[in-house]
Amino acid sequence: MVKHDQAEGLRRKLDNQRIPKQAKTISVISGKGGVGKSNFALNFSLQLLSHQKKVLLFDLDVGMGNIDILMGMRSKRTIIDMFEEQLTIHDIIETGPNGLSYIAAGSGLNHFFKMEEADKSYFYDQYKALVEMYDYILFDMGAGVTEDGLFFILASDECIVITTPEPTSITDAYGMIKHVVSHDSMMPIQVVMNRSAGYQDGIRTLRQFDNVISTFLNIDIKAMGIIPDDKTVTQAVIRQVPYVLFNDKSSAARAIKEITFNYLSNSKELNRTASSSFVQKLKQLIAR
Ligand SMILES: Nc1ncnc2c1ncn2[C@@H]1O[C@H](COP(=O)(O)OP(=O)(O)OP(=O)(O)O)[C@@H](O)[C@H]1O
Ligand SMILES: [Mg+2]
Repeated sequence: MVKHDQAEGLRRKLDNQRIPKQAKTISVISGKGGVGKSNFALNFSLQLLSHQKKVLLFDLDVGMGNIDILMGMRSKRTIIDMFEEQLTIHDIIETGPNGLSYIAAGSGLNHFFKMEEADKSYFYDQYKALVEMYDYILFDMGAGVTEDGLFFILASDECIVITTPEPTSITDAYGMIKHVVSHDSMMPIQVVMNRSAGYQDGIRTLRQFDNVISTFLNIDIKAMGIIPDDKTVTQAVIRQVPYVLFNDKSSAARAIKEITFNYLSNSKELNRTASSSFVQKLKQLIAR
């Protein structure tokens, strides 16, 4: 009994010790599709990079991923190659503009449940290596949520929900947040109002959304910022250049710069314990 208590005490002590530096993991999500998640994830990543952060952009929009297309790149490898060719995670990381690290979406992750145990543990080991290499890892998710997608969302340190001011987009963002907090009521959630007609409009809509969330879901979300509807974004997408690089004076570029600056000024150091690490959470969620 004493032995058990001692072991338990030791375990708790170890758990409470801070573990080595680990990336902050962020899932970029939405309810409705086509609201600007990938463009946000890409341009936000580039802005974090310009603040000398080590960033990995991980396209998890399985089967529909297009991060590489938005950068005008053609990726040689995806996550599925990691298993089929016994590659390490380092082998599948590609380099985009300004040296941005990214992993292109594969079509293997949607079969996680069917993955052999040995493959799973290989997968966890690769992820462990990954979180120790970067300051930020951003997951660009598909619209809505798949079962595997939910594991990544819930294992992340925070979620950024992208919506536009359209009622359909807002309603779906609400549904998405409700879904996430029904699994984890403590998940930090930030909201970006993308394609806003004007700054004041955006502020008003964000405030209304915030009120609805706190009234009906009883949680606090954080308004991360507003990105105006800007035709430069469409032009940049057509030219396959991230909009912050296409025209850094455009209103969308200026908005995302401000969002990144505020984000970095406000973000706190994570008080991480072993059990709250990304890989540990992912393991627990999948084992459930
Ligand atoms: N701020 C903006 N101003 C104008 N157009 C925008 C803006 N943001 C996104 N768009 C338009 O919306 C399109 C879709 O954007 P994006 O691919 O980033 O959305 P998504 O949410 O990732 O879509 P999916 O759900 O299919 O993954 C872009 O190609 C662009 O034309
Ligand atoms: Mg996308």
